[in-house]
Amino acid sequence: MSSTADRRIGIVMNGVTGRMGYRQHLVRSILAIRAEGGLLRADGTRLIPEPILVGRNAAKLEAMARDHGLERWTTDLDAALAEPDAEVYFDAQVTSGRAAAITAAIAAGLHIYTEKPVASDLTDALTLARTARDAGVKAGVVQDKLFLPGLRKLHRLVTGGYFGRILSVRGEFGYWVFEGDWQPAQRPSWNYREEDGGGIILDMFCHWRYVLEEIFAPVRSVQCLGATHIPQRFDEAGEPYAATADDAAYGTFELDGGIVAQINSSWTTRVFRDELVEFQVDGTEGSAVAGLRRCRVQHRSTTPKPVWNPDLPATEDFRAGWQEVPDNAEMDNGFKTQWELFLRHVVDDEPFPWDLLAGAKGVQLAELGLQSWAEGRRLAVPELTL
Ligand SMILES: NC(=O)c1ccc[n+]([C@@H]2O[C@H](COP(=O)([O-])OP(=O)(O)OC[C@H]3O[C@@H](n4cnc5c(N)ncnc54)[C@H](O)[C@@H]3O)[C@@H](O)[C@H]2O)c1
Repeated sequence: MSSTADRRIGIVMNGVTGRMGYRQHLVRSILAIRAEGGLLRADGTRLIPEPILVGRNAAKLEAMARDHGLERWTTDLDAALAEPDAEVYFDAQVTSGRAAAITAAIAAGLHIYTEKPVASDLTDALTLARTARDAGVKAGVVQDKLFLPGLRKLHRLVTGGYFGRILSVRGEFGYWVFEGDWQPAQRPSWNYREEDGGGIILDMFCHWRYVLEEIFAPVRSVQCLGATHIPQRFDEAGEPYAATADDAAYGTFELDGGIVAQINSSWTTRVFRDELVEFQVDGTEGSAVAGLRRCRVQHRSTTPKPVWNPDLPATEDFRAGWQEVPDNAEMDNGFKTQWELFLRHVVDDEPFPWDLLAGAKGVQLAELGLQSWAEGRRLAVPELTL
């Protein structure tokens, strides 16, 4: 039920015809909040998001607006930014288009919420962060992996001291992305072209920066070997193109406290895991394996003592010796949860730590990963300040 005390907030949403913009941000977050009658505020009133859809294809936008009972859409970004009720600009378009659009939105006085990577390189990312700060607008960056149920449970284990001293983190992310010839590719082709802002290092190291730092410890160095395993792919029109961007990255990160993190990120691997991303954490007191949703643990007191003997078949069911960590909380869609936090930050000044500097730190790690690969050496990760 909406009441006269409720407040409406215009949100310019750019890139809503894309995979992330449509499914996670429009449907699963903003429309879901509207379907619940708006976001409940501390004073008991509600905040009702009013999306203004922006994109390049008028027919797609019109159809999308109609499907969801929305009236406001445009292919003219400047016109959307000039709407009198527009307070927030959200960007989920291709990475290469982001910096210019965010700059225009800041100049129009809007608060910024954006997908990652915030820009294609660190210079642009820092410029955005400084421009937003100087303009006095609020800014937030999507850091969705922190809100995955599996990683929330892992974080809870760390803060509860479950692991003792953490020794290592081993992450496996990825799945087979079809080349696009005999089966259509399940990811957009720009991801495989460096000149269009593609590449798995730029895409995924942004995530690994905040996952490692917020759950474990600051990242002090990176060593990365990238690869373009599949040099030719087929685009949305079925045309062949040169895949110029990296499609796999084999990264090693040193964290504070001597923790060694190794993370494989790959669009060229076939899944023999329970989830599309999994992290194994080994500590002196216990270990955990966390994925998107699940998290399982093995304590030192229940750790089996395997004895190496290749002459005999394995008799022990090693997976059976792990215990499921319960949710113990309601775990809503992570994108929606982060939207709610950001909107409360905008209208009620509640804290929101993941700003454009946090976004720039993600780009910094990606850039250093690419440099490490190019130079064949391990690189320190310097502190980043504005
Ligand atoms: N947080 C996450 O987990 C996550 C996951 C995937 C992608 N992303 C990010 O979201 C953004 C969009 O990724 P996506 O997978 O939704 O891509 P997509 O190709 O499905 O969507 C791209 C959007 O950008 C628009 N666009 C503007 N200029 C374009 C151009 N020159 N070429 C192609 N499209 C153009 C498209 O119309 C579309 O709306 C990227 O920055 C990506 O890094 C984040």
